[in-house]
Amino acid sequence: TDPARIRNFCIIAHIDHGKSTLADRMLQVTGTVPDREMRAQYLDRMDIERERGITIKSQAVRMHWDVDGAAYALNMIDTPGHVDFSYEVSRSLAACEGAILLVDAAQGIEAQTLANLYLAMENDLEIIPVLNKIDLPAADPERVSREIADLIGGSPEDILKVSGKTGMGVEELLDRVIERIPAPVGDADAPARAMIFDSVYDSYRGVVTYVRMIDGSFSPREKVMMMSTGSDHEALEIGVSSPEPTPTKGLAVGEVGYLITGVKDVRQSKVGDTVTSKRHPATEALPGYTDPKPMVFSGLYPLDGSDYPVLREALDKLKLEDAALQYEPETSVALGFGFRCGFLGLLHLEIISERLRREFDLDLIATAPSVIYQVTTEDGSEVTVTNPSEYPDGKIKSVREPVVKTAILAPKDYVGAIMELCQSRRGSLLGMEYLGERVELRYSMPLGEIVFDFFDHLKSRTQGYASLDYEPMGEQEADLVKVDILLQGDQVDAFSAIVHRDNAYHYGTMMTERLRKLIPRQQFEVPIQAAIGARVIARETIRAIRKDVLAKCYGGDISRKRKLLEKQKEGKKRMKMVGRVEVPQEAFIAALSGD
Ligand code: GTP
Repeated sequence: TDPARIRNFCIIAHIDHGKSTLADRMLQVTGTVPDREMRAQYLDRMDIERERGITIKSQAVRMHWDVDGAAYALNMIDTPGHVDFSYEVSRSLAACEGAILLVDAAQGIEAQTLANLYLAMENDLEIIPVLNKIDLPAADPERVSREIADLIGGSPEDILKVSGKTGMGVEELLDRVIERIPAPVGDADAPARAMIFDSVYDSYRGVVTYVRMIDGSFSPREKVMMMSTGSDHEALEIGVSSPEPTPTKGLAVGEVGYLITGVKDVRQSKVGDTVTSKRHPATEALPGYTDPKPMVFSGLYPLDGSDYPVLREALDKLKLEDAALQYEPETSVALGFGFRCGFLGLLHLEIISERLRREFDLDLIATAPSVIYQVTTEDGSEVTVTNPSEYPDGKIKSVREPVVKTAILAPKDYVGAIMELCQSRRGSLLGMEYLGERVELRYSMPLGEIVFDFFDHLKSRTQGYASLDYEPMGEQEADLVKVDILLQGDQVDAFSAIVHRDNAYHYGTMMTERLRKLIPRQQFEVPIQAAIGARVIARETIRAIRKDVLAKCYGGDISRKRKLLEKQKEGKKRMKMVGRVEVPQEAFIAALSGD
């Protein structure tokens, strides 16, 4: 295709503002998917995406649209909406010349609308603002149009009003995409350079690599080379999705399509990398490539120890599809054999554990999420800690923790409640801005505070109205300590936590209290202590049982949660020994899950 007749664009929106529904209507209006084959959320492939209504993996689809008798090829690149995947979002945006900024006409601008808009602007994309869900009775197009115009300029009247549900305004939107978004430009005679913006594992075909051709071209059967590693592969198939994969004679400047090389692991085809030709390689890779870096770590353990090999196999399998997932074996006194896993963020953690449960039928327990700490000891050695158990003993000179720039958007009535919460999480205010009835608060905050149920608290304090977005902002030194939990003097590893010194007492009392309620009485008295190094900061005691009340005592002060877990496991009681103390594993699990 002549590049002048190509338009590459994406849709950026906050979660639930209707991106997938609009994409469905575009597929239908352009005749890309015949009416009889249409089903909701056509482009979302994974079941879990469909059920949870979120898009995890981006996709590209080619559509045709005519304006004044001239035929155009439109490549729509779907972007994941969530902050955990912001690197993937940024690569998808880099594959486009323009973006449709989609805003729910009833909800208005949200945190991810802003985050995605800023990313699109950084990539110099032409922005087409669009109001969606105009059919809703609660839609307030005038107010939301003004919000958008205030944000990006232009006049509120020029903002297109559409309904992804009824299809209203969708044709005008396609016309506008062609009119406003620039055609791609590139050097057709230069050595081939294509940017990978997605890489998807398919159990039949191996890895499918989605690329945007920047310069030159590829033809089937030629040898292509990944510039970050120098590894080369034969392009067995080249094609475009329309939306089913359709082989083509190649890809030329400005085009978007896929390559299949037979590799079996997405790590050999990394998002952001540049693909070139083996015979005439480009000298310089395209800018913007970085390796995915896990930010959040958690230990995953099978509830039933005999499931350990299944868990290992499942993780090996998921790794083929997910270049950002990391793991290594780990053992815990309390929980047995498991894996320490690294994730991009909390949603990524949730998705992986959900898939392990669902697709591999595993019952799992996850330890409290932790972030990466850089610890410098008095003798000058540097230790990277992603697990409290790796925290060095002895004298610590300094600890550095990751910090993120957080943007919270909420109705202005909640400003006080939000500020209070952010301050209690060691946030410092960077700025505040009113957007009509709403306010955007920007804080710098330790990531460690956010991974610890921050979003839940934010939602409950704002009755669900606040939205949150964050991006890495570097590191800071902080007064952090490791709190250990001891049963009769023996450390229970899964409960150690790295917390701010001011919160150490709170964590210590909460955990010792929880364990006292959950651990059954023994023949002897069992002290439960929380300690920083050798210094005890909290203590509870489980009194010894008298023989005659044994039967009654057991179960007497055990929480409901634990009973539930017990029932699930049909009384298969697995006892763990911590020193001399016998503890049912369920007690540890209940204590970790909290309330
Ligand atoms: P994510 O993939 O999670 O980012 O969501 P999304 O932005 O793709 O939203 P989706 O298309 O799944 O729509 C979210 C909800 O809004 C669904 O319940 C849709 O049925 C509904 N919806 C989408 N567009 C419209 C519209 O134009 N009018 C009305 N009334 N509802 C809509």
